[in-house]
Amino acid sequence: MLGAPGVGKGTQGRRLAPASGLPLLSPGEILREAVARATPLGLEARRQMDAGRLVDDRVMIALVNERLTRADAATGFVLDGFPRTVPQARALDDHLAGRGQGIDVVLYLQVSEDELVRRLSGRRECPVCMRAYNLEGMAPRDGMHCDDHPTMELRVRADDGEAAVRQRFEEYRAKTAPLVEYYEALGRLRRVSGTGTADAVFAALQHEAGSVPPVKA
Ligand code: AP5
Ligand code: MG
Repeated sequence: MLGAPGVGKGTQGRRLAPASGLPLLSPGEILREAVARATPLGLEARRQMDAGRLVDDRVMIALVNERLTRADAATGFVLDGFPRTVPQARALDDHLAGRGQGIDVVLYLQVSEDELVRRLSGRRECPVCMRAYNLEGMAPRDGMHCDDHPTMELRVRADDGEAAVRQRFEEYRAKTAPLVEYYEALGRLRRVSGTGTADAVFAALQHEAGSVPPVKA
C-alpha cells in the first residue's frame, strides 16, 4: 500500500489483509513496538519519528527484514507504509528475490491534500491495537473508546501535530513519491482513489489487487 500520510493505508490494510488471508505488516507499528520495547534500534528510530521525519533506511530495513522472516509472512503479506524510499524498495526486492518471491501489486491510494489534513487532525487511535478512528465520520460507537478495547480511551497520535504533519508531507513528496515511477516502470502499480466511504475504497482496492498476475517464484 502506497500513499501520503492520512490517505487510509492503515484503515484499508486492516481490512485487506484478513480478506486475503495474509498478515498485515505496518512499519509504523513495527517501529512503535521497537520504541515501546526501547531496543537500541527503537530508541534511534524514536528521535526521528517524533520530529516527523522518516526513520533512516538502515534502521528501517533491518526492522522490516527481521519481521519478514517470521513464519506468518513466509507465503505472503500486506505491507502498509514500506517501502517509503527507493533504497528501501531495492532492499525489499533483493530480500524477496533471495527467497524466490516478489511484490505482486502496489496499491497507490490518492486523496487531495486538503482532505488529508482534515483526516489527520480528526484522527484518534486506540493505544492498544492502533486502530484509527476519526472524529468526523469514523468515530467509535461510544464516541470516545475503542470498539474492540472498550476501556481504552482513544488518543491523538504523537506525530499528528501541525508541525510534524507538515514535515511528513515534505518527506513524502521528496522521498516516497518517487516510488510511483519506480513501481510503474515494473508494471506493478495500480492507482486507486482513496476518496469516498471506507467501504467504497475497499471494494476498489480489492478489484485492483485482483487485476495483477502474481510474481512467479
Ligand atoms: P505511519 O504510521 O505509516 O504514518 P503515515 O505514512 O504518515 O501514514 P498514516 O498512518 O498517518 O496514515 P494512513 O495512510 O495509515 O491513514 P489512516 O488509515 O490512519 O508512519 C509513521 C512514522 O513512522 C513516519 O512518519 C516515519 O517517521 C516512520 N516510518 C514509517 N514507515 C517508515 C519507513 N518505511 N521508513 C522510514 N520511516 C518510516 O487514516 C487516516 C485518518 O483518516 C483516520 O482518522 C481514518 O479514520 C480516516 N479515514 C480513513 N479512510 C477514510 C475514508 N475513506 N474517509 C474518511 N476518513 C477516512
Ligand atoms: Mg497508518
